Amino acid sequence: MTDNKNNKKTPLRSQAWFGGDDKDSFIHRSWMKNQGHPNDMFDGRPVIGICNTWSELTPCNGHFRELAEMVKRGVLEAGGFPVEFPAMSLGETNLRPTAMLFRNLASMDVEESIRANPIDGVVLLVGCDKTTPALLMGAASVDLPTIVLSGGPMLNGNYRGKPIGSGTDVWKFSENVRAGTMSLSDFKQAESCMSRSTGHCMTMGTASTMACMVEALGVALPGNAAIPAVDARRKLQAQLTGRRIVAMVQEDLKLSSILTAAAFENAIMVNGAVGGSTNAVVHLLAIAGRIGIDLTLADWDRLGREIPCLLNLMPSGKYLMEDFYYAGGLPVVMRELLARLHGAALTVTGASVAENVAVADNFNPDVIHPLAAPFKDNGGIAVLRGNLSPRGAILKPSAADPALMQHRGRAVVFSSIEHYRARIDDPALDIDADSIMVLQNCGPQGYPGMAEVGNMGLPKKLLQQGVRDMVRISDARMSGTAYGTVVLHVAPEAAMGGPLALVQDGDMIELDVAGRRLHLDVADDELARRRALWRAPEPAMRGGYQSLYIKHVQQADQGADLDFLVGCRGSKVPRESH
Ligand code: FES
Repeated sequence: MTDNKNNKKTPLRSQAWFGGDDKDSFIHRSWMKNQGHPNDMFDGRPVIGICNTWSELTPCNGHFRELAEMVKRGVLEAGGFPVEFPAMSLGETNLRPTAMLFRNLASMDVEESIRANPIDGVVLLVGCDKTTPALLMGAASVDLPTIVLSGGPMLNGNYRGKPIGSGTDVWKFSENVRAGTMSLSDFKQAESCMSRSTGHCMTMGTASTMACMVEALGVALPGNAAIPAVDARRKLQAQLTGRRIVAMVQEDLKLSSILTAAAFENAIMVNGAVGGSTNAVVHLLAIAGRIGIDLTLADWDRLGREIPCLLNLMPSGKYLMEDFYYAGGLPVVMRELLARLHGAALTVTGASVAENVAVADNFNPDVIHPLAAPFKDNGGIAVLRGNLSPRGAILKPSAADPALMQHRGRAVVFSSIEHYRARIDDPALDIDADSIMVLQNCGPQGYPGMAEVGNMGLPKKLLQQGVRDMVRISDARMSGTAYGTVVLHVAPEAAMGGPLALVQDGDMIELDVAGRRLHLDVADDELARRRALWRAPEPAMRGGYQSLYIKHVQQADQGADLDFLVGCRGSKVPRESH
């Protein structure tokens, strides 16, 4: 690293551990040498931390040991000293009550692990949904040179000769079983046909979206988002990532130089163009909060409004991530959008966004539509406000039914996900296709952790009549692989007494997506009467991490981070331990 003023080399922070002649440096070097490292590894070369979220309980990241080895190869080739360390892994499909509850906990693990160790630069190995924001949030609070490597999507699912997509087809198949149009044995057979290789969900779910987001933010090498997990080029990407982080340390290219307001604006526009997950909203808000960028829900609405969806991928379209890669991947999308993006934004390559995507070719315009003939006109995220969501709620128009974008209906209210499950298939439930399903107490504090239950399945009796979409409203999230006219992230949430808590069966609700309005048609004095009677629900657990989380979690419109974790605390070397 060079001190620009004096053109003199300043020692790397790792030298505070390894560079001395005293007993402390003896200890730091000697114990590391028990792993077989030669003296020259401690001679002032960049020490690169490889933060690995490998876990057998996170199947999407199951290949990360091999990927880490390829990163190490690149680091060694470039003259660095690679050191791999684990971070709490977040497996979306296994963690209960929801992986989102642990995103902030994992970010804390990552932040403290980086700062407390002799590390000069970091490679973040991310894949399954929450691992990407968790690691980037933690790293942003330290602000060392940092590069992200995504693990890549699984191969396309294939069931009886037809492509099937992670998550998206689970929701479809499940509805078909409930509607009586798919047998249970066929449903079970589809399990093995969906997840055919290591890697994350291969629809444009949250993992693929976040892989696109890190590429759009400029914190991953171009091409990062779409290379399949098992393609040899994913290994190459890992090796090149290892090489590049060493140079980034030498250039002192910190995360804060890349994660600028322009980078976040680019990512929001790209999210619209790829039909990305609604979860990107809370994750980008939280990452921005860590690095000190003032990003708001209004930015999402403003920047996404004019962005058409270019990508014909599930859940908005029909193709899958493998097809996206073969069509040219995210650089093609960014090149199409370039006139609207901040092309001069700096990226981890040391070059600008515009330079990175200058030569991207589109090999399949049915997968990646050109801007002149988009796949869908409305790609962005709609932010809805009104007396039901004073601090905002969101909806993904590209995954919703256009016929329901302007809708007035009678509320059918579920006070918890258990209440929903107990009632939904009751033949006596007073519900029809025009009703609006309302789910309460599934927000950050209420669940806790803001579970992905917002895309509640429709009542069996309506499915059997052929109904396939209805307006649903909640303070929950939904899987990025899901679809439907689903209003999510209502803030403030029901469990903290937001207006959502006051909705009752039979109330009329108006949804006006074009007008960005969500209105509960109940008189103010009646709402005041209900508020006086409202009591906060009992927490699911007392003590432990959950109680810390409930006490400090922010609402969805602020990214659902813990209030005391917001901000960057830097990379100052802590005092010695001996
Ligand atoms: Fe891991 Fe979808 S479950 S990415």
